[in-house]
Amino acid sequence: MDELPQDAVVFGILNEITEHESRVALTPDGVVRLRKRGVRCMIEHGAGLAAQYTDDDYTHVGAQVASATEIIHGSQALGFVGRPSDSLVGHIRKGTWIIGVLGSFADEDYVQRLETAGLVSLAIERLPRTISSAQSMDEMTSQNSVMGYKAAIVAADAYGSFFPMMTTAAGTVRPAKVLILGAGIAGLQAIGTAKRLGAIVTAYDVRPAAKGEVESLGAKFLDLGLDFSKGQGEGGYARQLTDEERRAQQAAVDSKAKDFDIVITTAKVPGRKPPVLLTEEGVSGLHRGAVIVDCAASELGGNVEGSAVGTHVSDKGVTIIGAPYLASGVANTASNLVSRNVADVLAHFVRDGALAMDLHDELDNALVITGREEGK
Ligand code: NAI
Repeated sequence: MDELPQDAVVFGILNEITEHESRVALTPDGVVRLRKRGVRCMIEHGAGLAAQYTDDDYTHVGAQVASATEIIHGSQALGFVGRPSDSLVGHIRKGTWIIGVLGSFADEDYVQRLETAGLVSLAIERLPRTISSAQSMDEMTSQNSVMGYKAAIVAADAYGSFFPMMTTAAGTVRPAKVLILGAGIAGLQAIGTAKRLGAIVTAYDVRPAAKGEVESLGAKFLDLGLDFSKGQGEGGYARQLTDEERRAQQAAVDSKAKDFDIVITTAKVPGRKPPVLLTEEGVSGLHRGAVIVDCAASELGGNVEGSAVGTHVSDKGVTIIGAPYLASGVANTASNLVSRNVADVLAHFVRDGALAMDLHDELDNALVITGREEGK
């Protein structure tokens, strides 16, 4: 294996310690990619194990396996699946570059803490989708895709009947009726997966463009009888609805949801709390045994009123799964995708063997959210 120069950029990966997190931000494949760009990689002991990568797998491709302290002190850049905790931020050396999905739209205080800590922060959620050469860096897309797939699988697993129609000697079982709310990257994957499992799938999104995409997957588009012809905002994302529109949408979704066995929600608006699409009234209208998977659930709430992270069963026997962590349940493949995204972000900033930014470049300008003084 070729030796890298002593002054090569060192990229460090730590164990992801967040609850439910099994992914790792760099897989052995990512190490190989980065070595080709002259980057040396350090991985914390056991960081890849939950995603099925052993320390030996990393050393075999030329990474150095080390302790967290060695990595924090020896790296110029650190990569994360999500973002470093506040306590970790307090330990990272001033001037270190960090890469991850940092949640910068919704948490300005956190961004300020990164700035105060003197870190150069690259926020993958800021990646402009209009730059086609940067699509391999888009962790939001890669992970939402995995999440949508897993949401359908989790729903099927929690449901007490079949997804497909099943004809047996003891009778015929009707197929499950699945409603997907939010037909972006995650929603479209959930539609495809539920259909492949044999369910009858209906989907809804506020963006008018979504109708054609839903129908092209062979699902039915849910007509709420509301005019959201201007439902799309900037950058191809949904806009936030007005209070009046939101109430009208909730009432319409609540009344339609009772016809379904499964509801999977994936609706988001960048930088905002996820919109509530299904209220408690809508949930109570579902039949006993129905299953809801709310992919937008977080401590701030989700697409389903009252949903929280984890599984609970309502008084009326509806299982509600608040599951923002679903991509982590496909840890091996999801990690390979994250790794490609994170490695490509880092490689973009390695110039003449060192980390550098050019704030006149559209991509650099979008991704670098703190430590911008370094690039002037
Ligand atoms: P997202 O994760 O921000 O939101 C998920 C979905 O929720 C979106 O389809 C959104 O329209 C929908 N939604 C938001 N509020 C809603 C409401 N009140 N009711 C119903 N649905 C609601 O978005 P995501 O999945 O990242 O995709 C947004 C768009 O960006 C899609 O058109 C997608 O195809 C496009 N895209 C383009 C890329 C590119 O150009 N390279 C890459 C990835 C996505």
